[in-house]
Amino acid sequence: MITERDPKKFGMNHFKYSQHFDSYFFNMKNINKNPQGKLLIYGATGFTGTLVAREAARRGLDFEIAGRSEDKLAALSAELNVAYHVFSVDDMDGWKKSLEGKTALLNIAGPFSKTAEQAMEAAIKFKIHYFDITAEVDIYRLAESKDAAAKAAGIMLMSGSGLFTTYDPLVVHTANRVKNPVALRVAFRYSGGFTPGSIASSANIINAGLLVRKNGEIKKLSEAQSAAFDLANGPEDFSLMPLGGVILSFKSTGISDIEEYFKLAVSAQEGAMKFEEGDLKAEKTAERSKILVEITGEDGTIVRSMADMPDGYMPTATSAVEVVSRALNGSYKIGFQSPGSAYGAELLASLLDVKITDF
Ligand SMILES: NC(=O)c1ccc[n+]([C@@H]2O[C@H](COP(=O)([O-])OP(=O)(O)OC[C@H]3O[C@@H](n4cnc5c(N)ncnc54)[C@H](OP(=O)(O)O)[C@@H]3O)[C@@H](O)[C@H]2O)c1
Repeated sequence: MITERDPKKFGMNHFKYSQHFDSYFFNMKNINKNPQGKLLIYGATGFTGTLVAREAARRGLDFEIAGRSEDKLAALSAELNVAYHVFSVDDMDGWKKSLEGKTALLNIAGPFSKTAEQAMEAAIKFKIHYFDITAEVDIYRLAESKDAAAKAAGIMLMSGSGLFTTYDPLVVHTANRVKNPVALRVAFRYSGGFTPGSIASSANIINAGLLVRKNGEIKKLSEAQSAAFDLANGPEDFSLMPLGGVILSFKSTGISDIEEYFKLAVSAQEGAMKFEEGDLKAEKTAERSKILVEITGEDGTIVRSMADMPDGYMPTATSAVEVVSRALNGSYKIGFQSPGSAYGAELLASLLDVKITDF
């Protein structure tokens, strides 16, 4: 049993994402764990890091926070009543001290091209399970390249515990619906705004190139391509965008042909984030985000499943805390893992306010 905390007691009345937060709490159903291990959240004071830290507090996790900006850490530490550590990602002594007594590290400091290598190395060195919420494909490749080191350390290395906590188990779920899955196409329709950290990361996503998987190998396309998908609103054009399934869903399913597409919901403008008196603020949009997964079986059968989830960044926060809680409870697989390879399609049932439709 988890101890539920009183939001007001923990300063959540100051929460800048209040509409979102309230609707999440109103429907919370998945409070059924009592994590035993202790977590460090690095990058806890950014927009998403703050959502994650508040979600960790809501679920009663035993955790501390860390980052490079003392004033922000002191404020969040006072709000959540947790200890904090100030150090740069390059400071191995900072990692050593802050990871002492921890079971898992959740890295939210992005762009991850500047933080993931150091954080992964620290996790491997001090034998702590590693998670991040990156959407940068090169970071998934980096995690994949550290598989042997993570296995030797006896830890799980899971890069992509944000969007992919829904995306990847959905792929596993859909792949289970055909006999021999041979091709995967995914269309992600995102509704909401972007933070400065995400905008910085998006440059890395674009610079990685138009990656697809063909016959098991990663290929870089020279020309952009689009495809039409129907996410229950009629057919719409989506643009090819390497979201990371070429690495993560290959890990979880071994499907040899993978293409990923992206589109911003029409209402995304409504959810654009604005700075107000120094705080980043996001409004709830009229639409929810959707992920459509299409799998082709060896015999030509095509099946589709869709996840319908809240707009904005809250699904990232709740799902990242879900997978981290599992590792804190002793449920993990050593080495490089994706959410689907570690926890399978079953993970979908634990995600807050995520609805799955098969068709
Ligand atoms: N895939 C997903 O589901 C998903 C969803 C949401 C966010 N994200 C990713 O998560 C990252 C953070 O997003 P956000 O919304 O929290 O952005 P944000 O509000 O702009 O905050 C960025 C955070 O990262 C820290 N940071 C940046 N560079 C750092 C460095 N070199 N060393 C130490 N700390 C550093 C910042 O610290 P300071 O405050 O000290 O500058 C801040 O805490 C982004 O890369 C974003 O793309 C992914």
